[in-house]
Amino acid sequence: MKILITAGPTREPLDPVRYLTNRSSGRMGYALAEAAVAEGHLVDLVSGPVSLIPTDGVKMHFVETAQQMWEKVRQLTLGEPPPQLAIHAAAVADYRPKVVAEQKIKKQADTLILELERNPDVLGSMRGAFGFTGYLVGFAAETQNLVANAQEKLKRKGCDLVIANDVSRKDTGFDSTENEVMLCLPSGETELIPKQSKQTLAREIIRRVVALASQ
Ligand code: CTP
Repeated sequence: MKILITAGPTREPLDPVRYLTNRSSGRMGYALAEAAVAEGHLVDLVSGPVSLIPTDGVKMHFVETAQQMWEKVRQLTLGEPPPQLAIHAAAVADYRPKVVAEQKIKKQADTLILELERNPDVLGSMRGAFGFTGYLVGFAAETQNLVANAQEKLKRKGCDLVIANDVSRKDTGFDSTENEVMLCLPSGETELIPKQSKQTLAREIIRRVVALASQ
């Protein structure tokens, strides 16, 4: 099966030496790519800046900003043949600085107000803008109302499955080696995959998602 995966944070420049980003390590997306390749699938991994070593056999596409990730995912989704399964594990920055200063911003007043503007939604563009008809999987990083927020995202972004994780927990999720997730289906059904290493969890997710996508 041809699989597209996004991973890692995005990096939104503010001036030549500064940027806005988040705590995503990229481990979950990289583990998914590794597990998929081990099962014999063809994997394109669109990655934000991370300090991980790509797995042999994974086709890497490195990007920095959300706009670059959107464009690369668009190209790959419209490719021939298109992916049959897309898993969006990246922690895409929702906003970017409205103005990127050409020179390093010098300190002046005691406070500094940054104006931000919305980034494109990569996952949210798959169905409408990119015409993706394959099996679509999103992640939902939540600090409260895990299942309700995941279900809302599933509907809003046209997903077939949302993998929800509670990022308020210290022991799992962002920048952690372990994760516990809740699979949320359009029927409203949910299934907990208990806490384990991101590697074993990734194998479990790939096994289930490939089976669902093949139905
Ligand atoms: N996502 C994306 N592009 C964005 C924002 C999010 O592709 N600009 C994807 C993520 O890869 C993930 C899913 O959307 O699969 C949900 O991400 P999350 O940050 O939980 O949700 P948001 O849509 O950003 O909603 P909010 O921040 O309001 O909770």
